[in-house]
Amino acid sequence: MLKDLLISSRSYRSFDESVKIPYETLCDWIDHTRYCPSSINLQMLKFCIVTEEAVCDALLSCTRWAGKLKDIHLPPKGNAPVAYIVICSDDAVIANAESFQKDVGIVAQTVMLAAAESGFGGCMIGSFSKDKIAALLSLSDHLTPQLVLALGKPNEEVRITEADADGSVTYYRENGIHYVQKRPLEDLIIQERKR
Ligand SMILES: Cc1cc2nc3c(=O)[nH]c(=O)nc-3n(C[C@H](O)[C@H](O)[C@H](O)COP(=O)(O)O)c2cc1C
Repeated sequence: MLKDLLISSRSYRSFDESVKIPYETLCDWIDHTRYCPSSINLQMLKFCIVTEEAVCDALLSCTRWAGKLKDIHLPPKGNAPVAYIVICSDDAVIANAESFQKDVGIVAQTVMLAAAESGFGGCMIGSFSKDKIAALLSLSDHLTPQLVLALGKPNEEVRITEADADGSVTYYRENGIHYVQKRPLEDLIIQERKR
């Protein structure tokens, strides 16, 4: 069921480094995005796969994780992602990348669901230095990193939990378990105006 896959596809920030993801598997996850809707059907996003350990290490240092958990360094040492997919906009297809941010979200979630279906997982990382990553990956000038997908075999537990009584939501860790609060359905649906 799609909902079960969605529930299992949490943001994971600790990985078993001994479990690698084959390059072909990463390509297959990207292949899923070919069936995504795309603004004006331009399909202007490109994907840079990173699996080489030294490059993964360097890429990790360009990213920031779980900013709300001030006292915890994630991913824990020795539990880093084993692969990355860097989603890039391609100015050679269309110059104004800003209006295509919605496409980025759609393809990102598609890759994460494909990963979850294959028994892997990861975290979308939006907090990173575009310039540093572009330089690290020797990206051509027309490619701009828009979102980083950090991937691996998760080795931590993430549980969905309810919103606070006042309706606020966040994420937190207790006894090594990561809890992520989700709003209830009734808070999401805008009530029809009474006539
Ligand atoms: C566009 C986007 C950017 C994100 N950027 C980061 C990030 O830079 N660092 C991080 O640790 N998590 C990042 N996340 C993960 C969110 O923190 C996470 O989705 C949220 O806490 C809810 O947890 P869940 O994905 O398990 O439902 C990002 C998520 C999205 C959708």
